[in-house]
Amino acid sequence: MPNAHITGWGMSVPAKVLTNSDLSKIVATNDEWIRERTGIHQRYIAGEGETSSSLGTDAAFKALKLAGLLPTDLDLIICSTSSPEYIFPATACLIQDRLGASNAGAFDLLAACSGFIYGLNMGAQAIRSGSAKTVLVIGTETLSRFVNWEDRNTCILFGDGAGAFILQASEKPGGVMGSVMHSDGSGGDYLSIPASGSTNPASEITLRTGMHFIHMDGKEVFRFATRVMTQATHEAAQKSGWKTEDINLVVPHQANLRIIDAAARGLKLPIEKFMINLDRYGNTSTASIPIATVEAVQNGRLQPGDKVVFVGFGAGLTWGALAAEWSGPLPSEHYISAEWYKPWARVRSTLRRIWRALEELLFGRGG
Ligand code: UT7
Repeated sequence: MPNAHITGWGMSVPAKVLTNSDLSKIVATNDEWIRERTGIHQRYIAGEGETSSSLGTDAAFKALKLAGLLPTDLDLIICSTSSPEYIFPATACLIQDRLGASNAGAFDLLAACSGFIYGLNMGAQAIRSGSAKTVLVIGTETLSRFVNWEDRNTCILFGDGAGAFILQASEKPGGVMGSVMHSDGSGGDYLSIPASGSTNPASEITLRTGMHFIHMDGKEVFRFATRVMTQATHEAAQKSGWKTEDINLVVPHQANLRIIDAAARGLKLPIEKFMINLDRYGNTSTASIPIATVEAVQNGRLQPGDKVVFVGFGAGLTWGALAAEWSGPLPSEHYISAEWYKPWARVRSTLRRIWRALEELLFGRGG
């Protein structure tokens, strides 16, 4: 059975920074409160033209480049997002097109902030079963577009961004080890976007009552998060045959510094073993774990051979953890970098659209 190794990683954030002081000009809050209660100092907010697929594609190209792969090497694209561009088509398909990943299947996965862990687990299982050799897992969010900028309970928390990992099959030992996924739908009301799905389709009423915005019971989510982060990390380590103290680095979902502190205390691990960067990015939901991982590698906190646990929680309710022995890139078979492929991907997409239009013109629908 092949192992699933993490061989590439990349991240992307929008250009615009929104600081706590900027926020205090639009809602009744202040820098001191936000820093003390969350640990967040600033977040990035998507501007015009920056979308879940554009950020996801940018992160994916960086991950492919690092892994020494081309988009055509991909068998599968799993895009985890709570802010898809449309209900359908899947954001994964928009990214597939932007990458020019002509050999890949693509689908979206919705497990809110736990989505990246779910996606990594699914990607690793596809590799282990032999159904895929090279998988791209993306976490991408533009949740700022679902935030009520008059609700200080939520608008201070979320930021936009994307992160991506490449998983590759190899007989080498290591890579993805034990993982756990959990859910409890009875807590679904604690964190939701009540409208725009099939229960409450967009209407004048949903718009007037703000049902298309994020609604959250922060206290309940907090309570739930502090309980499950410790439990899931223990489970993933145990499934991998590790003791908790063997873990070199925990990369937690970046929601609130106090939640991460509580997890460190619960696990009896020093806080230095936790990667924390929510001060600069806020809560980027499913993108927070890959973004924090990219920075951990850049800062030398994650080296090949290290034992790392990714752990997260989110709406659903969902939670999970995944343990991996950090790998690094495998030898590349290509002479050109994925970045060189970018213009070709654009040409390819345009040509396919023209071809489709021509077919329709010449032969009509279904021709
Ligand atoms: O990916 C998962 C996403 N969600 C989460 O992770 C959320 C988890 N929950 C949390 O992080 C915290 O519950 C919050 C940061 C959302 C809130 O912190 P808290 O310590 O639970 O505050 P609170 O809601 O109990 O509010 C305490 C006080 C209240 O005032 P009073 O009633 O004591 O006078 C709030 O009205 O702070 C007030 N408050 C604020 N003040 C300034 C609430 N939000 C703000 C704000 N600025 N933004």
